[in-house]
Amino acid sequence: MSKILIKNIKGLVQCGENLPKIRKGDEMKELPILENAFLAIEDGVIVSYGKMKECSGVTDWRDLEVIDAEGKFVLPAFCDSHTHTVFAKSREEEFVHRINGLSYEDIASNGGGILNSAARLQEMSEDELFNSSMKRIDQLKSYGTGALEIKSGYGLTIESELKMLRVIKRLKAESDIIIKSTFLGAHAYPLKFKENHKGYIDQIINEMLPKINQEGLADYIDVFCERNYFSVDDMSQILDAGINYGLRPKVHVNQFSSIGGVRKAVEKNALSVDHMEEISNDDICALQGTSTIVTILPSCSYFLSIPYSNARRLIQNDIPIALASDFNPGSTPSGNLSFVWSLACIKMKMTPEEALNALTLNAAYAMDLPDTHGTISIGKKTPIIITKKIPSLAYIPYSFGEQNIERLIVK
Ligand code: NIG
Ligand code: FE
Repeated sequence: MSKILIKNIKGLVQCGENLPKIRKGDEMKELPILENAFLAIEDGVIVSYGKMKECSGVTDWRDLEVIDAEGKFVLPAFCDSHTHTVFAKSREEEFVHRINGLSYEDIASNGGGILNSAARLQEMSEDELFNSSMKRIDQLKSYGTGALEIKSGYGLTIESELKMLRVIKRLKAESDIIIKSTFLGAHAYPLKFKENHKGYIDQIINEMLPKINQEGLADYIDVFCERNYFSVDDMSQILDAGINYGLRPKVHVNQFSSIGGVRKAVEKNALSVDHMEEISNDDICALQGTSTIVTILPSCSYFLSIPYSNARRLIQNDIPIALASDFNPGSTPSGNLSFVWSLACIKMKMTPEEALNALTLNAAYAMDLPDTHGTISIGKKTPIIITKKIPSLAYIPYSFGEQNIERLIVK
């Protein structure tokens, strides 16, 4: 049995029993912190915590690793509920085109963007993809990510979508952090189907989904619902087909325009609607009082120089928010969630506490992990973060670009 005792913790963050599964509105300001605390973990399960003065009950010191966390904070690992971590190659040439004046949408309509990634991925072997993705996951863990969602969507043919999803299945089996898998065959129309959208939708519904179901390759279904990509009607058909196979929707909506995808996704009981750089009054009405959470991706806004989502408006309207990285080669080539935390505070005026709720407790909700991840509670299996010595918790988002995560402990 592995046993870890962390003592002299400056602040044990997001800890307690019977905490809510989701926080929204004013509740997002709440962040329980136990000062001068200890935490005990056995075989990856949290078994005890409290104030240092109560920490006398260690009876069995055999094989006990004792960590002195003086001056350091301990928090539940970040949950990254929206990523495209499996991809073939980086796309810095498009980054340079954007500096020279093209927009993300211009590049896509010239055959770049997602289609560029798909062409490269189609040539790559499953093993190469697996190995490069596993390396990326190690890097994400060094940033404090302790649970990860990964999407397909750079295959766009039957074989290549299955290849991506099989890679994700292997990553699930071989990584020590929890991974959730999302089928995003509807990420872009392949060139072959440029004039025949129905043909590609038929392929997704009648050929990809049955195989994905047979091999148990996905937990969720996603569609990029956007002008020049998939319409609300296209999305509706694809989500229905996914739902028939037990896949709950988690969708890309409102990155560039609000075209009614939010209301439709909520109607389909989506777990999350992601991006939301654009928000209409009708989107707000559609979301209020539902179980759908909004996942905001501020490092995508940063990288593409597009508007940031209006987090304050969502909070004022009692709509819960999660934050995620969107790690991918086109719009967000970084999976650093401390940087996302900084952007949430600096660019969207979320307080450090609100943003940390969105990266832990609410993020765990956004990937169906509220019973194991997101808070430090007895019996939970969440990986935990030990920070470096820092003056306060707000120092992490404040010192943007600095690496303040010292260690991620996974069972
Ligand atoms: O979430 N917007 C759609 N998909 C990704 C970007 C994909 C790409 O450019 O490769 C996103 O930003
Ligand atoms: Fe995305």
